[in-house]
Amino acid sequence: MLGPMTDVLTVHGGTPLMGRVAVRGAKNLVSKAMVAAVLGDGVSRLRDVPEIDDVRIVSGLLHLHGVDVVPGDAPGELVLDPRNVDRAHVADIDAHAGSSRIPILFCGPLLHRIGEAFIPDLGGCRIGERPIDFHLEMLRKFGATVEKRPEGLRLHASQRLRGTRLELPYPSVGTTEQVLLTAVRAQGVTELRNAAIEPEILDLIAVLQKMGAIISVDTDRVIRIEGVDRLGGYTHRAIPDRMEAASWACAALATRGEVYVEHARQQDLMTFLNVFRKIGGAFEVDDSGIRFWREGDAPGSVVLETDVHPGFMTDWQQPVVVALTQTSGLSILHETVYENRLGFTHALNEMGATIQLYRECLGGLPCRFGRRNFTHSAVISGPTKLHGADITVPDLRGGFSYLIAALAAEGTSRVHGVELIYRGYERFLSKLDALGASYEKETTAA
Ligand code: EPZ
Repeated sequence: MLGPMTDVLTVHGGTPLMGRVAVRGAKNLVSKAMVAAVLGDGVSRLRDVPEIDDVRIVSGLLHLHGVDVVPGDAPGELVLDPRNVDRAHVADIDAHAGSSRIPILFCGPLLHRIGEAFIPDLGGCRIGERPIDFHLEMLRKFGATVEKRPEGLRLHASQRLRGTRLELPYPSVGTTEQVLLTAVRAQGVTELRNAAIEPEILDLIAVLQKMGAIISVDTDRVIRIEGVDRLGGYTHRAIPDRMEAASWACAALATRGEVYVEHARQQDLMTFLNVFRKIGGAFEVDDSGIRFWREGDAPGSVVLETDVHPGFMTDWQQPVVVALTQTSGLSILHETVYENRLGFTHALNEMGATIQLYRECLGGLPCRFGRRNFTHSAVISGPTKLHGADITVPDLRGGFSYLIAALAAEGTSRVHGVELIYRGYERFLSKLDALGASYEKETTAA
């Protein structure tokens, strides 16, 4: 019998990426909007859904819970019918959860629909501990009981969940979504302080409002939700993926190419675009997308701190670090969202980059990781010639960043474990083809 298989790309670097790619719905909205459909008593239609593994995982989980998920008439449309939501077998949920963190977001909707939920051991990118303590604390405050069992967490609600006053210790994206998905059908009003306000969260709020929810967002990170008795279905076009758009922009800069990203939206990328310009990138926005290229050889150093929105988002950090190895100057990076998101730089150094890591906070933002032995700051000195190497994809964004490095490097690289990138980048091999990249793919035993 065949064991697990892995995809290896042999990349011949040194060719500028030139051409046009299109991004579709944001991975980090689409999966949440799919879960939101469980709250409704009617059919929902989600448009611009990308063909990525995360969507397949969530479709599988929904299916196990009795939600019918089928393609709609339009390309990229999913039709979700939650009218027969039911319990699922624990072993089946565990098998389907795969490498995703989305199962935790099923809690609120399932507690409302069937009074219980089961959460298996969560996956997701290994970029830090990624605990779920905020999630569980919030759910308990709504009135759910949480029981730890050897096979996972079992949540139970003996009566309708109640709205409550909540405050997050940190503006966590997932926990804000958890509160939204739980509060919309809870009894009474919920107030969430110190909420995350990422564009994907505002788009989820738009989805919930279409379903009948009453939600207001203040400018001071306070979200108020008035619970309602019932919600219907929705029809919604997902916001475009700003992480993917920024990844292609960095690929254009690092390979000295020119890439037009169709559907990239300036308002979701404001903070990224400022940094892109400071590090020597150029861009032009039109009605359908953004064209990215590199502006000569001007110095491109920057002092960068990742932060929650509207700050510079952590998912942009890894592709930008690769771009910084190709621009001239000394740049400083302080990662304040995840304690362990710089490990991917070791392989870049083996390829010829000069990146030094520090435990100290090299920046002024209040950070939870200083003095705690976490290597979470970096100094990147560029430009450095990168050469081909054998590298293994560590996580989703780190993996795409290795591809950028391999494409910018002189010579041939072998990139192992490329299937991790399928989780969040739709048909990226066809997109590489469209941009003139030179590579071969083989599937081998892992
Ligand atoms: C979402 O993860 C995204 N994932 C991540 O994208 C993204 O990096 C992150 O938000 C920040 O923008 C999805 O949307 C599926 P958090 P999430 O809760 O919700 C700590 C990608 O590459 N924390 O905002 O899991 C946590 O450890 C992925 O697309 C707790 O301490 O992130 C982290 O340090 C990677 N306890 C910080 O908060 C908790 O209970 C922010 O995490 C929850 C979080």
